Amino acid sequence: MCGAVVIGSRTLLTAAHCVTTYISDPSILRVTVGTSYRLSGGKSYDLKRIVIHESYTSATLENDIALLVTRSDMSFSKSVKAINIASKNFNLPNGTEALVSGFGTVSYEGSPSDVLLAAKVNIVPKESCKRSYLGIASIADGMVCASANNPPRDACQGDSGGPLVTKNVLIGIVSWGEKCANPVYPGVYTRVSEYESWIVSRVNTYG
Ligand code: ARG
Repeated sequence: MCGAVVIGSRTLLTAAHCVTTYISDPSILRVTVGTSYRLSGGKSYDLKRIVIHESYTSATLENDIALLVTRSDMSFSKSVKAINIASKNFNLPNGTEALVSGFGTVSYEGSPSDVLLAAKVNIVPKESCKRSYLGIASIADGMVCASANNPPRDACQGDSGGPLVTKNVLIGIVSWGEKCANPVYPGVYTRVSEYESWIVSRVNTYG
């Protein structure tokens, strides 16, 4: 249904909009790690807790971040490990190349991918992203935009909650966009560096 990203042996991050309907019963959800196939392999873990950002707003998708806590420790291996999160002062210049990955649809309203796919995208200047979405949606401080052209590359439906990574650091969480790989509309991600203290404090409390 969504992606997530491992940040500790019992903790993952995802998008708040992925998990709002399950908040009262985390046991409905599980996370699967350590496979590149959407429907097979890897290991699944039950969830003990879902912590949604207190200021998550569904209408604007502001603060679209949630912490997932598994019931047991995930075992780390060559294919399962935790990523470092970008800290408050992480330098993320416009144009920086980053990798987004997931099992989401391969085109807008298309089918999800059965194998894990990844796309190289570049960080889009905030002002130009705001201009792109003018009159449609607003780009908050806690968001970062990325896109790629020739050929167009982007995250799409089902990729939400998954990672945007640069230099082995988690900089974004797939959040939203207008259609997919539309040259006019960048993908919009939760800007992880803005949430460093939220993440650290929730991991310390619930992780
Ligand atoms: N909201 C979508 C999801 O739930 C992610 C959309 C990302 N769209 C984009 N064009 N980057 O999976």
